[in-house]
Amino acid sequence: RKRVAVLISGRGSNMTALIESAKEPDYPAEIVGVISDKVDAPGLHIAEAAGIATKVLERRDYQTKEAHDLAIDATLHALGAELVCLAGYMRLLTTSFVREWQGRMINIHPALLPLFRGLDTHRKALEAGVRLHGCSVHFVTAEMDGGPIIAQAAVPVLPDDSPESLSARVLKAEHRLYPMALRLVAEGKARIEGDKVRFEGMTASPPEDW
Ligand code: GAR
Repeated sequence: RKRVAVLISGRGSNMTALIESAKEPDYPAEIVGVISDKVDAPGLHIAEAAGIATKVLERRDYQTKEAHDLAIDATLHALGAELVCLAGYMRLLTTSFVREWQGRMINIHPALLPLFRGLDTHRKALEAGVRLHGCSVHFVTAEMDGGPIIAQAAVPVLPDDSPESLSARVLKAEHRLYPMALRLVAEGKARIEGDKVRFEGMTASPPEDW
C-alpha cells in the first residue's frame, strides 16, 4: 500500500473520504499523516480521531514561503510519504516544492477544469450559465489548477441553484471522485507523462462501484 499524506486547510471532508476509503481492505493506499497550515482546521480533529498523525505548519511561523514549504517537505519525508493529496489546501506551493513532488502529488478542484480555475468556482459557474458543473482531480504542476487531469465528475446545475446548493452537490461528487482517482494513481494506472496523464491497465468502463 502506498503511503499517502494529506494537506488540508479547513473542514477536511475530502480528507475524511480518503481516510474512509483507505479502510477498505483492497484499497491500494494508506493515509499516514495529515498536515494543516491552519491550527484551527476542523479536519485535524477528524484525523486525530481516526488515529492518524497530524502536524500543523503555519505560514506565519516561517520567514519565507520557501522555508514554510521546506518544513512541509521535511514532514512528508519524516512520514515516509510516497504520494501527497491536496484536499482543500488553500495555499499556493512554491515551484521547487511542486517540482520535487511532481507526478506524486494530486489535487481536487471544485470545477470541471480547465473551466473556473482559482477560487469561487460555484459562483463563477452560475455566472457563466453552464448547465453542467463538477470537480476534477489532477496532478499538481507549476501552473495553478493547470496540471493534467486524472478524473472528473459532473453534476447538473439546477435552475434555482445558489453557490451553496451547487457547492453541496459538487462536494458529494468530490467525495466519490477523490478516492477513485487516488486509487488509480496508487495502483500506477494513471501516471503523469509531460502535460498529459497516461492510463494503463484500465478497462473502458468506469469501476463497478461508480
Ligand atoms: C473542496 O470543495 C475542494 O475541492 C476545494 O475546497 C473544498 C475543501 O473542502 N478546494 C479548492 O478550492 C482548492 N483551491 P474540504 O476541506 O471539506 O475537503
